Amino acid sequence: MKIYVFQTEKELDTFVGQHIIDFIQENEKPVIGFATGSTPLGVYDYFIDAYQNKNVDFSKVVAFNLDEYVGVEKTHPRSFATAMRDSLFKKINIKDENIHALNGKAEDMKEECCRYDREIEDNPIDIQILGIGMDGHIAYNEPGSPFDGGSHVVDLHQESIQSSLDYGFDRIEDVPTQGVTQGIATIMKAKQLIMMAKGEKKAKLVKRMLKGEVSEDFPSSIIQRHENVIVVLDKEAAKCLKEEDYERC
Ligand code: F6R
Repeated sequence: MKIYVFQTEKELDTFVGQHIIDFIQENEKPVIGFATGSTPLGVYDYFIDAYQNKNVDFSKVVAFNLDEYVGVEKTHPRSFATAMRDSLFKKINIKDENIHALNGKAEDMKEECCRYDREIEDNPIDIQILGIGMDGHIAYNEPGSPFDGGSHVVDLHQESIQSSLDYGFDRIEDVPTQGVTQGIATIMKAKQLIMMAKGEKKAKLVKRMLKGEVSEDFPSSIIQRHENVIVVLDKEAAKCLKEEDYERC
């Protein structure tokens, strides 16, 4: 596992953005897994700038979103599908038919999860962008989620519901109480994981994720078992790590 710590958010975003752009340029069919939330937004801005400056072509990129709220149409203003569309997809030349997402409004959620896992099996993810939730979740795999599980519906924990207020919900009562998410087994099949964390509020969580016991009680700890992980942190998120644990960038 490589752990890089950057002095500024901008340097971190540039590093991740350029790493993925290089991959896109070198590959015929790059399959990228995208996360919503606030952490990757600077990377998405980097992609948009690069596209506007004609430095990258996203037309051959195949995209998979990580997760979605249950009971929410993809066109809902607070859906993760809308968040990805607004923050990135509508501003670059990715093809609509190449954007894959879980449908939180599917009639049969079990079948929807199987459909999604099959799509990912047919288009293995090359690089998966990840963030860590305030309860240690990755995607919406909350504490207790099985390490060997595929996509599934999950009851959101209180911390995750609370964090959703940052994503534009006005009132806690408006936040859906269930999510549907790629499972940990699905995520672990990605060829490379890029775990991003920013800010002091993530510092203790980052330490537990990277140095703590690998346990279903703290789902993001599973990344310790992936053979190709890049962890990118700003200096605040790295505060609880020892200097010898990471490379300073
Ligand atoms: C989002 C997702 C979540 C977030 C995590 C961190 O698709 O799967 O696991 O990555 O909750 O969220 P932020 O970046 O808002 O701190």
